[in-house]
Amino acid sequence: EVIDASGQILLPGFVDLHTHLREPGREDTETIESGSAAAALGGYTAVFAMANTNPVADSVVVTDHVWRRGQEVGLVDVYPVGAVTVGLEGKQLAEMGTMAAGVGAVRMFSDDGHCVYDPLLMRRALEYANTLGVLIAQHAEEPRLTVGAIAHEGPTAARLGLAGWPRAAEESIVARDALLARDAGARVHICHASTAGTVELVKWAKAQGISITAEVTPHHLLLDDSRLETYDAVNKVNPPLREASDAAALRQALADGIIDCVATDHAPHAEQDKCCEFAAARPGMLGLETALSIIVQTMVQPGLLDWRGVARVMSEQPAAIVGLDEHGRPLEVGEPANLTLVDPEASWTVRAKELASISNNTPFEDMTFPARVTTTLLRGRVTAREGKAVGGP
Ligand code: DOR
Ligand code: ZN
Ligand code: ZN
Repeated sequence: EVIDASGQILLPGFVDLHTHLREPGREDTETIESGSAAAALGGYTAVFAMANTNPVADSVVVTDHVWRRGQEVGLVDVYPVGAVTVGLEGKQLAEMGTMAAGVGAVRMFSDDGHCVYDPLLMRRALEYANTLGVLIAQHAEEPRLTVGAIAHEGPTAARLGLAGWPRAAEESIVARDALLARDAGARVHICHASTAGTVELVKWAKAQGISITAEVTPHHLLLDDSRLETYDAVNKVNPPLREASDAAALRQALADGIIDCVATDHAPHAEQDKCCEFAAARPGMLGLETALSIIVQTMVQPGLLDWRGVARVMSEQPAAIVGLDEHGRPLEVGEPANLTLVDPEASWTVRAKELASISNNTPFEDMTFPARVTTTLLRGRVTAREGKAVGGP
């Protein structure tokens, strides 16, 4: 088969280090199958499925299931993320070694949705991870600073009467974990950086030679807390949408390589968990199917990244962070490849009802973006084409 790619941009398949697929436990909001379709349509060939499922992915039984089910569906490689602790707010480290040695070969551990806030436990987790050659990804928030908090602490939240979530909740953990990683000689990855201060801290840590990497979400690059005026819970997310100046600092940091990569934090939620009062709604928003388009709008159009840079932040860097070395190296002639085609002229308008996700909680509803993924190939086989996920194993 010949694919006509004239006028399009050919990129390596995207890698998402941060996806919530809700299986097992909340298959009414997303499954490995529906989330894989969303990923393929978004140009992804690998996603890392976060550990805050039910049951929590703190054992090899769950992590192996996630990997196997992803391979059965066959649209994208679904890499399981293991929980660092037994249970999400656990006091005890999970058996990371067993999960790493399983069929799912877990290479990244996180307590996303929660934070390992006992510094001694985090230090031990980093040391243990180091001996296994796996990565700890920190959700990065000090929970004692965010009790009851639902929106970025600033003028907007004050005016709207929403309890404020301070920058220090994130930045204090970033600083702490950078220092713990330094002392342990270990690597640490910062999930969803959201403030200008986090950028400064990551920059500082890298300058010290600390092995720290960081990701940013498309929504923190594009949106800010002015969106909260309507009290629409679709804009509620952890960490919260910050100020326009934070978003600008994040875009510059991604352009400069201080922030290493884009990760979606794709977080599907049911209608009834999002339609209620702002305070009661669950945090999180869809991300897989809109990520590339938002990167083009926020980074490529303003000249902050060229297409080579898009390949770096969407594919090569995230692959390198978790050691997927088949991504980002030159292909042999005839080798089946993970590839994504983007039409840079295909502007489109987001409609939740037309997305492959089971859930509809996109903050980008009715927004028009300048470019779109048209085709995705996983190991040489088409997995998405003209807006439809195709094929199987
Ligand atoms: O907004 C969020 N939603 N942030 C997280 O860290 C967790 C996620 C979820 O699981 O819904
Ligand atoms: Zn998180
Ligand atoms: Zn998350």
